[in-house]
Amino acid sequence: MKRPKRYLITSALPYANGPLHLGHIAGAYLPADIYVRYLKLKGEDVAFICGSDEHGVPITLRARKEGVLPQDIVDKYHEMIKKAFAELGIAFDIYHRTSDPLHHETASAFFKEMNEKGEFIEKEEEQFFDEQEQQFLADRYIIGTCPKCGFENAYGDQCEKCGTSLSPKELINPKSTISGNPPVLKTTKHWYLDLEKYQHEWLEKWIDSHKADWKANVYGQCKSWLNSGLQPRAVTRDLDWGVPVPVPNSEGKVLYVWFDAPIGYISATKAWAKENGKNWKDYWQSDDSRLIHFIGKDNIVFHCLIFPAMLKAHGDYILPDNVPANEFLNLEGDKLSTSRNWAVWIHEYLKDFPGKQDVLRYAICTTLPEQKDNDFTWKDFQTRNNSELVAIFGNFVNRTIVLTHKYFEGKVPACGVLTQFDKDTLAEISVIKGNLEKSIENFRFREAIKTAMDLARLGNKYLADTEPWKVIKTDEERVKTILNVSLQITANLSIIMEPFIPFTAEKLRRFLNIEKLNWNLAGNDDLLKAGHQIAEAELLFDKIEDEEMEKQIQKLMDSKAANEIANIKVDPAKENITYDEFSKMDIRVGTILEAERVPKTDKLLKLKIDTGIDQRTVVSGIAIDHKPEDIIGKQVSILVNLEPRTIKGIESKGMILMAEDASGKLNFVIPAEKTTNGSGIK
Ligand code: 2FM
Ligand code: ZN
Repeated sequence: MKRPKRYLITSALPYANGPLHLGHIAGAYLPADIYVRYLKLKGEDVAFICGSDEHGVPITLRARKEGVLPQDIVDKYHEMIKKAFAELGIAFDIYHRTSDPLHHETASAFFKEMNEKGEFIEKEEEQFFDEQEQQFLADRYIIGTCPKCGFENAYGDQCEKCGTSLSPKELINPKSTISGNPPVLKTTKHWYLDLEKYQHEWLEKWIDSHKADWKANVYGQCKSWLNSGLQPRAVTRDLDWGVPVPVPNSEGKVLYVWFDAPIGYISATKAWAKENGKNWKDYWQSDDSRLIHFIGKDNIVFHCLIFPAMLKAHGDYILPDNVPANEFLNLEGDKLSTSRNWAVWIHEYLKDFPGKQDVLRYAICTTLPEQKDNDFTWKDFQTRNNSELVAIFGNFVNRTIVLTHKYFEGKVPACGVLTQFDKDTLAEISVIKGNLEKSIENFRFREAIKTAMDLARLGNKYLADTEPWKVIKTDEERVKTILNVSLQITANLSIIMEPFIPFTAEKLRRFLNIEKLNWNLAGNDDLLKAGHQIAEAELLFDKIEDEEMEKQIQKLMDSKAANEIANIKVDPAKENITYDEFSKMDIRVGTILEAERVPKTDKLLKLKIDTGIDQRTVVSGIAIDHKPEDIIGKQVSILVNLEPRTIKGIESKGMILMAEDASGKLNFVIPAEKTTNGSGIK
């Protein structure tokens, strides 16, 4: 494409109903931030747009659960998310929100314009309605039995047990989650986007035109939707939280969250333009602008098919030139999950690792799920820090600066005669810069950060090969040249590392006592003039110790354990019995005197018990969890008047009471304090 005059870069608007985690950052935010920082460093005109997605059913559900208003939920998480982004250096030009009046106006006007143009199909259909609450029920407000697997708490849109996509009418015994009552079917009117028509008119051709320049995962997902044939999609809902449908007689209806959210990009741009003396239309309605949406893979259909269809149907707008969606990032081999608390929460990371934003940015960038899902592990995080950031990058910079102070009082020494090795090393900087540009411009950020680290590797190798600490004894002039070359590499690092690890780049500029340099200067070998005074060295990165990683892993293990406990299914209570029936059972405290395995069985132990009444034999199925030698002397509860039974040829008189946990483990039921054998348990 022709070189654009300006760029409009968007990152998916996160739902304001929970904090940010690692997966969010790896999907739509870090790649976008790297791309934008790169463009800005080159001096391009860029608007980097994001904000909170504050509508939709998950927010109303959460508010209901917590007994607060949806606005309270979004206010809380909007601030929390905004802060976490800022602290991690994800530097949007604006972080707006869809509950803002400017957004409501913009989304309303957008809908009205499409409606007036006759772009919607209006349809009446039957939907579930809660008569007690007098409201229609969105899919997530209905639960019932999954017709596929029999799970009793499947949602109206999906069964979380077997993963099947459902429609509410498929559920067996549907119930409203608000009142608990079975819903009734009632007719309601909605507005539909005629995707089927757009597919045939232009959408399919437009997607095909991006076969070569869009990522294969993105193009492939679009094609698979198109191949199954797009259907008209409702863009309104019966709900009381969202942008009201702006046409007469539509009380109780709002725009579907996925209709209003992408319009949020437009309203955010308007707000930003207003604050910065810009014209938002230049970015959205001018052919010389380039629009790029950064998203996660679950958002592909909305950004590649539905939103472009809306933009085109409305008219006046440009369409996205690229949608570089990432796949998902997993954590320690398991899917990230908010509800299971299986996540690294960004606000917690920032608290646990103060000043280490760049370590996380670096570790995520090297692990980005660009082609397929990928896995983040704390072990890898530690290795990236200790073996790459500290051992390569930090080590090179530190040696360069310390030696410059040691030999030349912190003044950049003049460059003398360059050897062929010096020349080759310096020439490599431009090669690295060129490769880096190619990777970034093609949205290959993993490759890019590896290439950027190649410059630090180059510097490290240069010092190791030239050994200025030895040469200084015989040839100070040569050391001047070596350190000049090393310092030029360091200055180049401060430019090319900026998009990836901006806090470190800033630190480097402070060490070198220089201002931020334009990207186009990278590749030069005279960024620092002879005689320029640099600052004292500090460490660029610190080593991360095993204990810190163990703490993080323990945190995850704790969530796993808490989940297991939360997921334990407790059997419902049995039918009531009378006191007389209960009192027929004679349960006593006893002590195990002897214990041995019953031959040829895995589970059975033969026990000799002192019941206070007598000493008797009991055969008990506890051998999986308890070794004979461990239980001798233990007090137990024993039902002494159970009819004797012969088990494996041994007469068993009575039964030891055991508590069985969710995993099937059997635990002794014992008196809290030592109690005389024969004491009755009542
Ligand atoms: O998946 C999500 O988190 C959505 N809130 C993304 C919306 S992107 C845009 F369309 F607003
Ligand atoms: Zn199911």
